[in-house]
Amino acid sequence: MKQFAVIGNPIAHSKSPAIHTAFAAQFDIHLSYIKLLAGKGQFSPIATGFFERGTGANITVPFKEEALRFADELSQEARIAGAVNTLSRQGGVIKGDNTDGIGLVRDICNNHGFDFTGKKVLIIGAGGAARGVILPLAGENPTSISITNRTYAKAVALAEHFSDYTSIDAIPLAELSQPFDIVINATAASLTGQHLTLSSDIFNSGTIAYDMMYARQATPFMQFADSCGATAVDGLGMLVEQAAKSFAIWHGIMPETADVITKIRATL
Ligand code: ATR
Repeated sequence: MKQFAVIGNPIAHSKSPAIHTAFAAQFDIHLSYIKLLAGKGQFSPIATGFFERGTGANITVPFKEEALRFADELSQEARIAGAVNTLSRQGGVIKGDNTDGIGLVRDICNNHGFDFTGKKVLIIGAGGAARGVILPLAGENPTSISITNRTYAKAVALAEHFSDYTSIDAIPLAELSQPFDIVINATAASLTGQHLTLSSDIFNSGTIAYDMMYARQATPFMQFADSCGATAVDGLGMLVEQAAKSFAIWHGIMPETADVITKIRATL
């Protein structure tokens, strides 16, 4: 039986084992998928130990940059995102991929019926989560991608980093005054239930407000967007879609996601 794992900290509440087990059942694949908690400085020894027998691992907070350095080979998505969320052992080589961006795009387009063509996109946040999704979003041909962040200098640096690949600009939080077609919260604020300081002007009744986080209740970002008339959605679909792409890398076959999203939501 092939062995898989998710490595992170914290890890106890990870939905990845349930998601991958549900995908595997679609194809009568038998696999083992465990959670591995890594302390500070433990990522590399834990991953090395796992890959003595393991086939693939998902990597979550806070180890995606360490996983990038751990991999022997990188996909273009992982290299440009500067982060790895999927490791695969292929012979004696560990390959690093990043499926977060494609997971976000697939959720927004396939599950929520949104077409990015000609649309104005705002990303809030300039950390690893934002960095990982910019290129796949750019591939969907939006009119513009703007980045805003509490620490403006980080938004500027990220926009500069990606300016070779797409048309992208940084806007200070306090200067946001126009509505966007889609606003993506890529900050860590929802993790801790914190409110973002946002102008209501960025939302109108046609705006999709997408929080990359998910919880049983709407996040503060979603509640605020909803009160401004926008359509608010959470990132549970992204979680399942990034897992589906990881599953496809490991097993060579793309699973169905809709029923799995419903099943995982019922467990929140
Ligand atoms: P991740 O890898 O999850 O993106 P990160 O690299 O630490 O984590 O980035 C966290 C992002 O969330 C940053 O954009 C951070 O803003 P700063 O650059 O100003 O630190 C943002 N963030 C976290 N908590 C926030 C809060 N309460 N309000 C606004 N932004 C917040």
